[in-house]
Amino acid sequence: MSEIEFHAVAKTSEIDEDEAMQVIIGRKEIAIYNLGGEFYATDDICTHAYASLADGYIEGELIECPLHAGTFEIKTGKAAGPPCTVDLNTYEVRVDGEDILVGIPTG
Ligand code: FES
Repeated sequence: MSEIEFHAVAKTSEIDEDEAMQVIIGRKEIAIYNLGGEFYATDDICTHAYASLADGYIEGELIECPLHAGTFEIKTGKAAGPPCTVDLNTYEVRVDGEDILVGIPTG
């Protein structure tokens, strides 16, 4: 069974509401989202082609890819709108004081 290791990646004050930010953990590119003060994390690279979702647009609970306007559900990573059909991985997020921590499986 793989363990989850939490990495402090950003401060809560660095990501405004309805904004996203790319962070790098090891070799993973992760997007952190602030949805109404709650933080979520998914893979940052769109599953359709190659674009950083942190550069996209948050519409409600969806992130719209900046390249071809496909969408994903931020909370679940589920592909929600064409041309995206492959879901994103999501990651557990914890907030400790001002620190945003993202849980990455170690195994
Ligand atoms: Fe994201 Fe095409 S690269 S929709």
